[in-house]
This record gives sequence, C-alpha cells and structure tokens, in this order.
Amino acid sequence: MKKRDSVSDEEWQKLTQAALGALKQAYAPYSQFQVGAALLTQDGAIVPGCNVENASYGLTLCAERTAIASAVVQGNQEFRACVVVTHTSPPSSPCGVCRQVLHEFAPHLPVRMENPQGEMLQTSIDALLPQSFDKKQLFSAPKIDEETDPS
Ligand code: THU
Repeated sequence: MKKRDSVSDEEWQKLTQAALGALKQAYAPYSQFQVGAALLTQDGAIVPGCNVENASYGLTLCAERTAIASAVVQGNQEFRACVVVTHTSPPSSPCGVCRQVLHEFAPHLPVRMENPQGEMLQTSIDALLPQSFDKKQLFSAPKIDEETDPS
C-alpha cells in the first residue's frame, strides 16, 4: 500500500469527531478530567481512546495510550496523525508518558490538541519530546561483559 504523509482536512475532521466521541466515554470518576484521543492509522482507519481511571490511582490509563493499545491489538502499528481532546482552554497537551508511547510508534506524528469549543493547537511528537530515548539507543549499548561485570 502506498504510504501517505499529509493528512487531509477530511481526515482531521474525522479524527476530531472520533476523539470527541471518545471523550464522552472517558471513565474519570476521580479526576473528573475527561480526555478523548483518536489515531489515524497508515491504512486510513481511525482508532479512538479515552482515559480509564482506577481506585488505585496510579493504574490510570491515559486516552492516548488506550488508543495505541487498541490500535496495536487490531494489527495497526503505523500512524499518521493523532487528535487529543480535553475540556480545557487552551486545549491540553499529552502527558510525558503518552509522548514517549506515541514516539515509540510514530516519532514524527502530527498531533492536534483540541477542545469541544473548536480551539486547536497543532504540534508533533518531535516537538513535544525532544532528545527522546528510543530503541536506537537501547540497541546501540554495548553488551554487558559477564566476566567483568560484578553484578
Ligand atoms: N490524562 C490523559 O488521558 N492523557 C494525558 O495525556 C494526560 C492525562 C488523564 C489521566 C487522568 O485520568 C486524567 O487525565 C487526569 O490526569
């Protein structure tokens, strides 16, 4: 399949609609902070995600990461765009953990941050996560020498 880079206005609109739909599904009884996300896959599918909180607060899943997990389990690992919707003004940006998780799959991913009032900020994962850690660094580290390593 031909790879496409630029995201059309129609695709952005579909992403916004999916993220707004996901926002309504957010399970956020503790923070009351709803987040909706939507990913555009390489083959044009749209995968939504919402935050899913837990009484054990630290187990909370962010919207961006539920979208990524959902996409991966459906066989999608290549992404062309992401929209994140919150009720804040200005629209909120993805947390550090989600930036790292999005970067794993799409280091140049265009990201739009929006709210239901129509405010929009556009950036990219490169810009949100400069000097990132990734698999290139992981795989370039020398192997531990089992004879000299004291541990
Ligand atoms: N949250 C997200 O879903 N995505 C982010 O990038 C930032 C934070 C959620 C987690 C929690 O349910 C609520 O927002 C408040 O932190």
